[in-house]
Amino acid sequence: MKGIILHGGHGTRLRPLTHTGPKQLLPIANKPMSQYCLESIKSTGIKDIAIIIGGIGSNKVKEYYEDGKEFGVNITYIEQESPNGIAQAIRLCKDFIGNEKFLVFLGDNIIQKDIVEFKKEFETDDASASILLCEVDNPSRFGIADVQDGKIKKIMEKPKDPPTNLAVTGIYFLTREIFDIIDRLKPSWRNEYEITDALQILLESGKKITYYTITDYWKDTGTPEDIIHANQIILTGMKPYFHGIKEDRVSIEGNVMIGENTIIRSGAKIIGPVIIGKNCEIGSGAHIGANTSVGDNSILIRCNIEDSIVMSGCVIDCKINIRNSIISNNSEIIEKNENKKIFLIGEGSKISL
Ligand code: TTP
Repeated sequence: MKGIILHGGHGTRLRPLTHTGPKQLLPIANKPMSQYCLESIKSTGIKDIAIIIGGIGSNKVKEYYEDGKEFGVNITYIEQESPNGIAQAIRLCKDFIGNEKFLVFLGDNIIQKDIVEFKKEFETDDASASILLCEVDNPSRFGIADVQDGKIKKIMEKPKDPPTNLAVTGIYFLTREIFDIIDRLKPSWRNEYEITDALQILLESGKKITYYTITDYWKDTGTPEDIIHANQIILTGMKPYFHGIKEDRVSIEGNVMIGENTIIRSGAKIIGPVIIGKNCEIGSGAHIGANTSVGDNSILIRCNIEDSIVMSGCVIDCKINIRNSIISNNSEIIEKNENKKIFLIGEGSKISL
């Protein structure tokens, strides 16, 4: 079997974070979200993976994953000229897939479930597709499967009156039969070629689509709130380690992961789950609270931060409380003892004072 990771898309709901690069490279617990997908695919034994790239910063995807060797896989990059839908992106992989069955991951979908068994079953089964379903509270916001007596009867996109609360997650086991169906698809109301439409046509043509229900965590990280939530869940499940340097009178509680050469200064307080990358400085006035990730080479002198993501190369030196925030690479938040605030902020930024 082969694998596909979708790394294109518009990423509009994550602006301004996506003005400079694809959302799938945004870090969750200091690792790009698409790397969780790559590791899930690799865990099933699949080695040949196509990554669909397109739009702003797609070169960053190539720079990060290169040919895949460092990640133990072989990567082929396939360009999607414009993000016209998930089904269109999958269709671009027809030659790459050849006659094999394949596993598709939307690069912004995070799951904790081990899918090795699902892959094994699909490999030997005669199903034309298999999808992962997950119960959700707000089914009219998702692609939904109508399941009766253990069989999928219908797949529909964002139904007004959902027959079940079983959302179709962004993980699909497929066969090459899907390509001909995608060729016959018409764009949806939002002008995209929808994978849910393709799956529904597959069903209507009498083909078998099986499903697995995942009860563990699944998140489609399309919004800042989703990313902050996924960060919390992943941090909570991580094993603690300390590779840094700690001065006296440092207070560390809970699950904390500290990278090489990171200095925690006397007086600093860290309450896990927290991850801090390499070569960081955590100053004496820093209080880093639960569910926070700090990327490599960041300096937090004075700060009170919780439930947030600070990426690499940032400097924070201010007394304000930072909550539910995402601070992009190389940003600074510095409080000077002057009665004026100075902002240099990119298009679409959000500041709540
Ligand atoms: P979405 O989250 O549905 O769409 P989007 O990325 O365009 O974001 P937004 O709605 O905020 O504008 O996309 C699901 C996944 O599929 C995501 O990982 C991006 C990827 N994708 C592609 O690779 N190509 C595409 O044409 C589309 C629409 C999505």
